Amino acid sequence: MTTLNFIGHSAFTVQHGDTLIAIDPFITGNPAATIEADSVSPDLIFLTHAHNDHVGDTIELSKRTGATVISTFELGEVLQSKGAHAVPMNHGGTYRFDAGSVKLVPAWHTSSWNDEDGTVVAPGVPAGLVLKLGEGENRKTIYFAGDTCLFMDMQLIGDEELDVAVLPIGDHFTMGPDDAIKAVKYLRPKTIVPCHYNTFPPIEQDAEKFKSAVEAQTSASCIVLAPGASWEIE
Ligand code: NI
Ligand code: MN
Repeated sequence: MTTLNFIGHSAFTVQHGDTLIAIDPFITGNPAATIEADSVSPDLIFLTHAHNDHVGDTIELSKRTGATVISTFELGEVLQSKGAHAVPMNHGGTYRFDAGSVKLVPAWHTSSWNDEDGTVVAPGVPAGLVLKLGEGENRKTIYFAGDTCLFMDMQLIGDEELDVAVLPIGDHFTMGPDDAIKAVKYLRPKTIVPCHYNTFPPIEQDAEKFKSAVEAQTSASCIVLAPGASWEIE
C-alpha cells in the first residue's frame, strides 16, 4: 500500500510499507500546513530544488531522524556542510533504497537558497523526481515535477509509465492550469495531483475548475487534496 499525504504547497509525504519519504518538506512557516515539523519523521527526504519554500525543514529533519537527503549536486553539498545527511546527485542519476528508487529528471526553473542570515546562495539547478516504489504489479511510479514550466521533454518522463503526476498549477512562479493540462497530455499519467497553488496571493487558482478541465480534455483523473489530506494510490 502506498499513500500520498499532502502537507500543503509542494510538501508531501509518501508512506510505502514502513518507509516514510518526505518531498520538499516546507512545514515551518508554510501558510498551508496543518501539522508541525516535529510530527514528521521521514526515513528519506527528496528535494526538487533549493528555494526555501521547498528545502523548508530539511536540515532539522535530517539531523533529527538521520534521513538521507537526495538533491542536485550543489544543493546537496550545501546541506551536507550544514549537517544534513545529503547525497549530492544530478539529472539522470538514480538512487536506490530498500523500498524502491528515485531518479532526478530535468525541470525548468531557478534554484537559490537564502541562508538563515539572509545570504543568498545559489546551489545549482532544479530537478523533477521520478519515484518508484514496490515491485511487479504493486509497483507505483510517481512523478513530482517540482517547480517548472511546461517543457516538451515531459514526453520522455511519460515513458516511465506514471501512475501519478504531481504538478504545480499556481502560475506566476511555475506553469499555470492551461500549461499543466498540456503537461498531462505529454506525461500520460493515470492520475494527476495539483500542488503549488493557493499558498500565497500570486498563485491563487481554482483547483476544482482545473480538475474538471483535466478530466474533460485528457484520460487522466485528477485528485484534489486539501492540506492534511491523504490518498491511497490505486
Ligand atoms: Ni521554486
Ligand atoms: Mn516553489
